[in-house]
Amino acid sequence: MIAKIITAVFLLVSTATIWPIANANEVKKYSLMMPNVRPKKTDLYLCTPIRIDSSKSYFIVGFEPKASGHDAHHMLLYGCSDPGSEDPVWNCGQMASPNGRDHSYMHSNPCKSGSNILYAWARDAPTLKLPDQVGFKVGGDSKISYLVLQVHYHRTFDDDETDNSGIYLHYTDEQLSRQAGVYLLATNGKIAPRSVEHMETACSIFEPGKVIHPFAYRTHTHELGKVVAGYRVRTDQRGDVKWDLLGKRNPLTPQMFYPVENNITVEFGDRLAARCTMESTRDTVTKIGATSDDEMCNFYVMYWVEGTDPLEQQLCVSEGSPKYYWKDDPYLINIPDEEASKL
Ligand code: CU
Ligand code: CU
Repeated sequence: MIAKIITAVFLLVSTATIWPIANANEVKKYSLMMPNVRPKKTDLYLCTPIRIDSSKSYFIVGFEPKASGHDAHHMLLYGCSDPGSEDPVWNCGQMASPNGRDHSYMHSNPCKSGSNILYAWARDAPTLKLPDQVGFKVGGDSKISYLVLQVHYHRTFDDDETDNSGIYLHYTDEQLSRQAGVYLLATNGKIAPRSVEHMETACSIFEPGKVIHPFAYRTHTHELGKVVAGYRVRTDQRGDVKWDLLGKRNPLTPQMFYPVENNITVEFGDRLAARCTMESTRDTVTKIGATSDDEMCNFYVMYWVEGTDPLEQQLCVSEGSPKYYWKDDPYLINIPDEEASKL
């Protein structure tokens, strides 16, 4: 009897001390998984959505992958204003060809509007935890009303097998002062047969008062990518132009988010610039496009801002080669020409 009372008192005391601390930093998990799908074709891309409560906003502070490298080649998490389909699962393959379609799933993009990549998993990628007090604001009055999980399946499944790969979203309903965002630098253009080409883009940041703190980057090309590099370009009061590296890598290494090379900020008037060095041994022209015969030149910057919404600008797309090059851009001088193409 006494023992019971002591235990009860002890429980009360311990609950009373732990409770406020636990509550202040409470991080919950939501599992966003494929609903037991059965891919019947190799290289199938499947998407599944969740709709986020529009009456309340949440902050996503981490992404914990649950995938097996044998089955899944990559996973991407998109934030969308509108999802690509109303279905619970659809085929959202970028590499789809008209004759190679799997008719078991509807075909559509991951997002119909407001598309933004928030997380990328590739072979061996660990949990991505955002910096302290940083979160992606979703739901409520944010632009992200849906999250869409895309899984690229390597192999076909037997009739008695299914898959539920996905991501545990770590989130809090507490309002965080630092919001995360993703900015995408990309190009259009084409690559001539048997040539080395520089596909380049640059944009100035024109939202006054926002201080961008990049903390991670991701590169994406298809087969022809050799090096992808991204920079902050700043002109000081004397007119000197300085390039600081955000990230540079071989795009054929696992295409996930990596920590930035330099902890620098990007402010009003600065420029963000990216170059993809492509090498083609093909006899034909390669265009920018969605299929595996096409190319892409993408550099993603994941960043946080304090006490404000992320950038309205989310995209910096140039015409690419042979129409646009850094060297023809009057604002871009002191180009680190060799360094940007060398690993
Ligand atoms: Cu993949
Ligand atoms: Cu691509």
